[in-house]
Amino acid sequence: MIERSLVIIKPDGVERSLVGEIIKRFENTGLKLVGMKMVWVDKKFAEKHYSAHKSKPFFRELVEFITEGPVVAFVLEGVHAVENVRRLVGSTSPHEAAPGTIRGDFAHLSMAYASKKGTGGKNVIHASGSKQEADGEIKLWFGKDELHSYTTVHEKHVF
Ligand code: RTP
Ligand code: MG
Repeated sequence: MIERSLVIIKPDGVERSLVGEIIKRFENTGLKLVGMKMVWVDKKFAEKHYSAHKSKPFFRELVEFITEGPVVAFVLEGVHAVENVRRLVGSTSPHEAAPGTIRGDFAHLSMAYASKKGTGGKNVIHASGSKQEADGEIKLWFGKDELHSYTTVHEKHVF
């Protein structure tokens, strides 16, 4: 039940100075930061991260987008972290993301996402889609020595 999930603030989120605002939303719910870094990934790394989308028509655009600037990657730990992080992140398309979610509140309502098959859109944030995806992504982005176990004051309320 205690899980870890990988979150990436994509280049648009970093360029728009949304890092603090986004991290605050997760911290507010008692999710614990157990690792964090800013990285400018190269195409080879991005292709690994998005390998599940390799056959999709928008694969190249995904790789181009995530490598166009630095990103902030972090690992959150908490109760049902994978599902709860996704809930806070909201639907993939900014046109469908509910107000109150990160994408719903911050992702631009761009032309790229205006049609169902629109590609190349910027949607501020990535979050692991399943427990299995989270395990693979955390291994790809973080070394064991970059992840930390410690206690937050929230845990008195969480447990
Ligand atoms: P993410 O992996 O970035 O957290 O996004 P997600 O789980 O909500 O969506 P996913 O299906 O994993 O897709 C990864 C990214 O590809 C772009 N996308 N475009 N044109 C399309 O139909 C389409 N579908 C996905 C989005 O930018 C999405 O974040
Ligand atoms: Mg995904």
